[in-house]
Amino acid sequence: MATFNGKVAIVTGSARGIGKSIAMKLAQAGADIVVTDTDSDGIRQTAQEIETLGRKALAVQCNVAVGTEVAELVKKTLDAFPAIDILVNNAGITRDNLLVRMDEKDWDLVLSVNLKGPFLVTKAVCQIMMKQRRGRIINVASVVGLMGNAGQVNYAASKGGLVAFTKSVAKEFASRNITCNAVAPGFISTPMTDKLDEKVRENYLKVIPLNRFGSADDVANTILFLASDEAGYITGQVIGIDGGMFMR
Ligand code: NAI
Repeated sequence: MATFNGKVAIVTGSARGIGKSIAMKLAQAGADIVVTDTDSDGIRQTAQEIETLGRKALAVQCNVAVGTEVAELVKKTLDAFPAIDILVNNAGITRDNLLVRMDEKDWDLVLSVNLKGPFLVTKAVCQIMMKQRRGRIINVASVVGLMGNAGQVNYAASKGGLVAFTKSVAKEFASRNITCNAVAPGFISTPMTDKLDEKVRENYLKVIPLNRFGSADDVANTILFLASDEAGYITGQVIGIDGGMFMR
């Protein structure tokens, strides 16, 4: 298994769900973690659990869609740690509805958290990574951003946009030894999907060849690889973690 001793990672949306799993796995592998989310209780809890593993953890409350809060996040990170080696843009939300019923505010909110958020955080962090001449950026997209989904035009557009953002960032920063990749999870059991009704869950299962929902750890394991030194020749890629739901 890759070692992350001495590495510093920022994981957005790490109060719970997939982000928490990514933060815990990176810490178990030796990294110090900046735990950041809008949920202040959740970040404290994740940070405490990381510290019990013997790693350093900094909890910073931050809304990724607000530029001033993102600037403060990066400032606090650099006050506490000497570098930023890994950024995982994981924070994301859904506000599902059919297009004809979708409010403009739900379109704007999802786009601002899921797409503007990674833009703001990546822009702030890549200034540091460029000076270091190294870095790993991993964006959490979705299978829905690749294949579309009825009832999720806002979410699908945000995640499809994140895929295009990933490829463009990869091209801009490759010469600085910074890689940028995306993962596209399918149906992962977390608080975000637990709220879906049973019928929807059953229908998803029918189109998953591996015949099970994924776990937050399934996603975290792939992200650990993309964040490792061993993944140094991979950039601008989108890795599906979906039990075979979408094969390109
Ligand atoms: P979740 O809802 O359990 O966790 C998301 C976290 O992001 C929460 O802790 C929440 O407080 C935080 N967050 C929300 N808005 C924020 C903001 N503006 N600034 C900072 N933090 C914010 O969701 P889950 O399932 O863990 O999803 C994590 C990522 O994985 C999301 O980007 C989601 O779109 C993506 N994803 C999830 C799938 C699933 O089946 N659960 C499938 C494909 C992608």
